[in-house]
Amino acid sequence: MEVVILPTTAARAGLAAAAITDLLRRKPSAVLGLATGSSPLPVYDALVDAHQAGQVSFAAARAFTLDEYVGLPAGHPEAYRQVIDRELVGRVDFADGAVHGPNGDTDDVPAACGQYEQAIAAAGGVDLQLLGIGTDGHLAFNEPGSSLASRTRVKTLTAQTRQDNARFFDRVDDVPHHVITQGLGTISEARHLVLLASGAAKAAAVAAMVEGPVSASCPASVLQLHPHVTVLLDPEAAGLL
Ligand code: GLP
Repeated sequence: MEVVILPTTAARAGLAAAAITDLLRRKPSAVLGLATGSSPLPVYDALVDAHQAGQVSFAAARAFTLDEYVGLPAGHPEAYRQVIDRELVGRVDFADGAVHGPNGDTDDVPAACGQYEQAIAAAGGVDLQLLGIGTDGHLAFNEPGSSLASRTRVKTLTAQTRQDNARFFDRVDDVPHHVITQGLGTISEARHLVLLASGAAKAAAVAAMVEGPVSASCPASVLQLHPHVTVLLDPEAAGLL
């Protein structure tokens, strides 16, 4: 695991964006793993800038998102698929149908989870997965207690995560209780994992991820088992290392 501590958002986002643009130049048909939350947003802005400068194209690439709320109608502005479209996909040149997310607006969630696993496998797996980390150490929506070998499935959010994500909704009561998330085993199959974290609120989770025991109590600690991980931190998030 490579841990890089950089004070500016631009520097962290620039490194993550460079990993993606380098990959796309080497392999234009690369499969990207996209994440929601606020941490990746500066990376998406940097990718849009690079695209507008003619430095990178997504035209042959494909992408899969990590997770989705269950029960939000597909067009809801906080449905993660809408967020990704708004923040990246609609601002660059992905081909129609190249970006996929779990379907949380369905009567058959287990079938949707299985179909998502099959779609990722059929694409040849994810080349580079962007990640954030929850204050409780969750990856995607794999809350503490998640099996390190887990696959895409439905999860129930903790009260802490619903509170953390309430800022995107009018009221905490509007945050769905259930989600579909790629499992820790699914995420671990991506060939390069790039995790971003900033702020003192993430320091304990980051320390547990990097230096703690590998344990379902800190789902992000599964990254210690992966051969190619880049962790991009600000000094505050690195404060307990
Ligand atoms: C949500 C997402 C995670 C993300 C986390 C942290 O729970 N499902 O993928 O890592 O939020 O978000 P932020 O980057 O906004 O702190």
